[in-house]
Amino acid sequence: MKPINVGLLGLGTVGGGVAKVLARNAEEISRRAGRAIEVKIAAVRDLDKARATAPAGLALTTDPYAVVDHPDIDIVVELIGGTSIARDLVLRAIANGKHVVTANKALLAIHGNEVFADAQKQGVMVAFEAAVAGGIPIIKALREGLSANRIEWIAGIINGTSNYILSEMRDRGAEFGTVLAEAQKLGYAEADPTFDIEGVDAAHKLTILAALAFGIPMQFDKAYLEGISKLTQEDIGYAEQLGYRIKLLGITKRKADGIELRVHPTLVPERQIIANVNGVMNAVMIKGDAVGQTLYSGRGAGAEPTASAVVADLVDVTRLLTADPEHRVPHLAFQPDRLADLKILPI
Ligand code: NDP
Ligand code: HSE
Repeated sequence: MKPINVGLLGLGTVGGGVAKVLARNAEEISRRAGRAIEVKIAAVRDLDKARATAPAGLALTTDPYAVVDHPDIDIVVELIGGTSIARDLVLRAIANGKHVVTANKALLAIHGNEVFADAQKQGVMVAFEAAVAGGIPIIKALREGLSANRIEWIAGIINGTSNYILSEMRDRGAEFGTVLAEAQKLGYAEADPTFDIEGVDAAHKLTILAALAFGIPMQFDKAYLEGISKLTQEDIGYAEQLGYRIKLLGITKRKADGIELRVHPTLVPERQIIANVNGVMNAVMIKGDAVGQTLYSGRGAGAEPTASAVVADLVDVTRLLTADPEHRVPHLAFQPDRLADLKILPI
């Protein structure tokens, strides 16, 4: 079967991770998707930058419109970031009848209502698992695993950079600025790191979660947000003495009169699991009326954890586009004849 052709907008931290994971796990990915997924072209700013993760022979361009207008591209993966050119590119890709995968929470929180309305009109998919909580399949959990539930609330650590900063300040006594610079170097932080430390990124993600949980439009402008930039070693030390950890939490709750949407530093009792989620890890708790309280945890930022979610979206979209009904059944892409070389090991 003809491969699915992908055009990447951006080949930075996440785009590079996507190219690497697609190449490394090509056999598993094509088996699960029903056909091969091939990156045909990628848009970057600087053609001369060294790119260890770019597959040999990959066409690079500095014109991102050449990707969204490319007649052979089936799925456009937007990993440029920001809300201006990214919005134009995504809307143009949709207008061109292309499916879109994006990790851009800012774009969805601010222009999501327009993006999804256009996608619906055009009959194309916009997949965004990587936009919230990095590698944790939280969008899938909310939309699929918990679809029977009336969601009561969601609360969690949804910004890896600020959790990394708070953890390192507490564990190593490191200075705020030093740890923020480390998070930037590790590829965790946003292009504008004030988004991480002032709660903006967490509020973008919370806006998306609330829209899915409660069936409301994206309303980022209504979120209350307060970041961690004013927190000091003293604050962290006092919290510790009283038996608490300070965590930047995003909280959205259904109340009798509406929906709460807030991001702020929170004192979490140290016996709670979420108080012990450290470093770049994220953790999200969701309470549904049928299932009760559930908890999901994993890496919230970084090249490969985020690529894991982007590639999962590529697999999902490809599976849905694949005509062969055998491959339309999700999660059944196993091969009985592989049992011979992948046997269960004795304990
Ligand atoms: P990077 O800055 O590492 O990568 C951005 C890429 O886009 C680069 O390859 C850059 O080119 C390219 N680019 C930027 N502007 C243009 C343009 N006008 N034309 C062509 N190419 C352009 O960002 P990240 O990979 O970290 O983030 C990408 C997206 O993923 C953002 O929306 C971010 O919020 C989101 N995200 C990031 C996570 C992370 O852990 N980093 C986790 C989850 C989501 P060049 O390489 O030449 O500079
Ligand atoms: N800057 C974001 C974070 C990237 O630190 O959580 C993942 O969305």
